[in-house]
Amino acid sequence: MCKVPSQVNQDWLRVSSLVLILILKGGILTGGMSITVLRTCIFALTACALGAQQLTGDPARGQALFEGKGECLMCHRVNDKGSRYGPDLSTIGASRGRGGGPNISPTGTAAGDPKGLELAMLDPDAEVALANRSVRVVTKDGTVITGRLLNHDNFSVQFIDTQSKLRAFMKSDLKEFAVLTKSPMPSYQDKLNAQEVADLVSYLISLKGPSKP
Ligand code: HEC
Repeated sequence: MCKVPSQVNQDWLRVSSLVLILILKGGILTGGMSITVLRTCIFALTACALGAQQLTGDPARGQALFEGKGECLMCHRVNDKGSRYGPDLSTIGASRGRGGGPNISPTGTAAGDPKGLELAMLDPDAEVALANRSVRVVTKDGTVITGRLLNHDNFSVQFIDTQSKLRAFMKSDLKEFAVLTKSPMPSYQDKLNAQEVADLVSYLISLKGPSKP
């Protein structure tokens, strides 16, 4: 894989491949430098420019974003901070398939998987784990309440509302009840740049729950 220092941005790489192409076109080939060597250079640089999208994230910056500008705590909980409306992300970095152990949350499609975590932020609707479904109810007086579904059966429904409160209703007391397939989480596609997404992913990957003795 191509290692690009984080301060070298893609523009720089584009410019340098352009310069190489110009050298090639102009036929300014010095001494023993063959076209093949130059072509290899250009390919390597192009690969770098493409690969540079896989930026190296910084977990500390990610945490700052998570708790600040990203406003993730408005919906998510990490250890003892934040809301219970969205799924608890305290162990999201622990991969279930790789020795996660039984105390790792079985929820979460994205757990421990950087690509999945990135997708969860950029396109939240793409994959909503069954355990993370949201629910929308309308009471008989017309109040609309949404929340994260905990459980429902023929008669009742229980969920966590946006204020982190546990709500329970008899279905017979509701005018409407619907389990939503879309995510209430906003897409961060236009709100975060590639570096910020990488920082958040590396922070999420670092969340493996309380350390075991
Ligand atoms: C408005 C509330 C809200 C905000 C703000 C929000 N989320 Fe979410 N998030 C949710 C809900 C609800 C889900 C569960 C449904 C889903 O998978 O999209 C979720 C799911 C996720 C998942 C997938 C969890 C899993 O187990 O698969 C990740 C990762 C995530 N959010 C990260 C973030 C990050 C990082 C931020 C801040 C940049 C953020 N969220 C902001 C509500 C929110």
